[in-house]
Amino acid sequence: MKKQLLLGQTLGFSGNPLLGDWADAVNFDSAGGVLIEDGRITATGNAAHLRADNPDAAVTDYGDALISAGFVDAHMHYPQTGMIASWGKQLIDWLNTYTFPEEARFGDRAYADDVANRTLDIAVAHGTTTLTSFCTIHPGSVDALFEAADARNMAVFAGKTCMDRNAPDNLRDSAQLAYDDSKALLEKWHGKGRANYVITPRFSPTSTPEQLTALGTLWAEHPSCLMQTHLSEQLPEIAWVKELFPDARDYLDTYEMHGLLGARGLYGHAIHLEEREIARLAEVGAAVVHCPTSNTFIGSGLFDMMGLAKAALTIGLATDTGGGSSFSMLRTMAAAYEIGQLRGTALHPAQLMWLATEGSAAALKMSGEIGHLGVGAVADITVLDLQSTPAIAQRASRALDIWDAVFPTIMMGDDRAVRDVWIAGEKQSA
Ligand code: GUN
Ligand code: ZN
Repeated sequence: MKKQLLLGQTLGFSGNPLLGDWADAVNFDSAGGVLIEDGRITATGNAAHLRADNPDAAVTDYGDALISAGFVDAHMHYPQTGMIASWGKQLIDWLNTYTFPEEARFGDRAYADDVANRTLDIAVAHGTTTLTSFCTIHPGSVDALFEAADARNMAVFAGKTCMDRNAPDNLRDSAQLAYDDSKALLEKWHGKGRANYVITPRFSPTSTPEQLTALGTLWAEHPSCLMQTHLSEQLPEIAWVKELFPDARDYLDTYEMHGLLGARGLYGHAIHLEEREIARLAEVGAAVVHCPTSNTFIGSGLFDMMGLAKAALTIGLATDTGGGSSFSMLRTMAAAYEIGQLRGTALHPAQLMWLATEGSAAALKMSGEIGHLGVGAVADITVLDLQSTPAIAQRASRALDIWDAVFPTIMMGDDRAVRDVWIAGEKQSA
């Protein structure tokens, strides 16, 4: 494969800008470059030096566009692509009214293929190079997504969504079937190309203790897999969990009791946490995933970014499509900023960009491999035009520094801001 040299303004990170002084964690070069060989980044640095050292490389000069690691969406539901932006319901009613009827359609493999391909096309158009998705109860829905990802050489994390109660008949499996289907899919896909199987109990209300135990057992048998679920998203949901699991100390305990708490656990939302839950998540090194457009859209609450970062939790960022109202990680960063403001913390653009790349990669235990603009990482790269619309351009034109130039794109940008996307060193067609 020919060497590729991308030139522009480069933004990478050497640490976590949520901890300490954000400026210490940033690697920014206004005349930078990224060298790609065999799908990986083999050098970064000054554009002129990289050009001189690599006369054989094919050069793409992006001028003053921003070269970033590709965005990593750490929690979404690809089967909900078709019903994004459905009006007027909060979580449990929203699931019953809109989500479950749509998910039932994924028994039709052709429909699953269509939505899987559509979702990945939309994600890539928005600069997302990795996504982490719930599928549906149907094993074919998992095959559809991994096949679509494989055709694009995308690193995708996904699993069969298991439910054996409090869901319609056509969306329920059983403890045994959840175990058997998940195991078969895991053996088929985990580690194949860039596919990563994720053990996926939807959330405690839709799994019996027997099903949670079965999936906990599967996780113990396959510790290299991630496990994803939902945690403490809405107050009525939490009250329901208390009724369903009277012996549990709290919501997290419903997972912990059944072998579903661990370092490779991904807990979506995590808004209304109790002290014990925060301490346990930190102690085991688990990750929580902030889904800000969903939290406002479904009316869930205000995630405590700074409090949880200070408690040393690993935090990823995600669209939560279609509870989330956007496929764009730029819009998702904007919503995280707005929720931060409502909680009294203005997240810096460096912190927002870190969350959408390195933070989500850390949540997926993929630090240094994806979401990273540095030597050794897979060359999953998103190039952002910082003047993509007249409204953004007129604001960016008076920017005082790079952050003042990036922030209007974070707040007002969408897929028009995505100039190019590279996946494993291959430029994607527009
Ligand atoms: N909790 C359980 N299932 C879901 C879902 O599909 N979306 C969201 N936002 N929360 C959930
Ligand atoms: Zn979700």
